[in-house]
Amino acid sequence: MKLQQASEVFIPLIEQELRACIPSLADEGDAFAGMMHYHMGWSDEHFQPTVARTGKRLRPLLTLLSCQAAGGSPQKALPAAAAVEIIHNFSLIHDDIEDRSATRRGRRTVWSLWGEAQAINTGDAMFVLAHLALQRLPIYGVPEHCVVSALRALDEACLALCYGQHLDLTFETMPEVSTDAYMTMITGKTAALLGCAMELGALVALNDLSTAKRYRSVGEMLGLAFQIQDDILGVWGEPEITGKPVADDLRSRKKTLPVIYVLSRENDARAMRLRHIYSQDTLSEADIAETIAILDEAGAKQQAEQLASHYLNEALAGIDNLQMETQSNEALRELALSVVQRAS
Ligand code: IPE
Ligand code: IPE
Ligand code: MG
Ligand code: MG
Repeated sequence: MKLQQASEVFIPLIEQELRACIPSLADEGDAFAGMMHYHMGWSDEHFQPTVARTGKRLRPLLTLLSCQAAGGSPQKALPAAAAVEIIHNFSLIHDDIEDRSATRRGRRTVWSLWGEAQAINTGDAMFVLAHLALQRLPIYGVPEHCVVSALRALDEACLALCYGQHLDLTFETMPEVSTDAYMTMITGKTAALLGCAMELGALVALNDLSTAKRYRSVGEMLGLAFQIQDDILGVWGEPEITGKPVADDLRSRKKTLPVIYVLSRENDARAMRLRHIYSQDTLSEADIAETIAILDEAGAKQQAEQLASHYLNEALAGIDNLQMETQSNEALRELALSVVQRAS
C-alpha cells in the first residue's frame, strides 16, 4: 500500500477516534472543550466549527502503519494512535507557552488568545484525555494486560519528553552546548514520542514487548531526523507553509543544530560573532538577520541536512530489518522519507 492510499483511509479514521476521545463542544459557551477544539483545528476562536490546519498527524499514522506492519489490524490500534496524537498536542500547547510562540499552524496559539493559565489547564486536560484514550483499546478487542503495557510505554515517553523540554529550556541561557548534549535533548523532546508511536502499534498487534521495543528504536531514529528537519525549517522554512514565524528559535536563543555547529567552531570569526549575538538578553531584528547570514555562510544548513539524512537512513535500515509485510513496508518507508523531505 502506498502512503497516499494509506493516508486517505487512515486519516479520517484517526479524526473520528480523536473526536471520540475529546469532549464534544456542547455550545459556543463551552470554552473548556472549545479551547481543545480550537487547538485541534476543529473550531475557530469563537468555538464555531471551522476547517483549519490540524497538523500532519504523523504520529498516529506511524502507529497504525506499525500495527499493520506487525501483522495486526490497523483499526485495532486507533485508540493508541489517538493517545499519541493527543499527547503530542498537549505538549504543543505547553511548548508554545514555554517558547513564547504566538503562532502555530498559521493561527494564534491557545495561550496568546486565552492566557497562560487557561492554556496550561487545557494542556493538562489533554494529557489526561490521552491516558483515557488508551482505556478504549478493549473496545477494539485489545486485552487489559496489553493496555497496562501501553500505558507504561506512553508514560515513559512523556517523562522523556518532559526531560527533553527541560534541557531545551536550560540550553537557552547556556553559552555553548555540545552536539552530544543536543542529541540527548532531542532524543527526549521529540524522538521518544515518535518511538512510542511505533512501539504502541506493534504492541497492539502482537502484545510482545521485545518486538515492540524494536519498533520503538526505529521510531526514535525517525524522531531524531524529524527534529533536525524542524530546526532547519525554523531558520530556512517558508512561514506560510510551516505555519510558524521565521527565526522564532533564534529569537529565543535556542541551541538548534545549525546554531550549535557554528558556535562549536574554535578560532572562527563567525563563531565569535554569533557567540556575542547570542550572549545578549534580547536579539534585535538586525541580530536575527545577521545570525541567519552567519549560518548561511558557514554552511550550517547543509551540515544539519547531512545528520538528518544519517538518522533517516538508520530508520530506513531499521524498517527493512523489521521484516514486515511488503505492503506496510512501502508506506512506512514513504512516511519516513517525508519526515526529512517535508516543508511543513
Ligand atoms: C512539531 O511537530 C513539534 C516537534 C516535535 C518538532 P509536528 O511538526 O509534527 O506538528 P504538527 O502536529 O504537524 O503541527
Ligand atoms: C518540539 O518542540 C517538542 C515538543 C513540543 C515536545 P519545538 O519547540 O522544537 O517545536 P516547534 O518548532 O515549537 O513546533
Ligand atoms: Mg520548544
Ligand atoms: Mg516550540
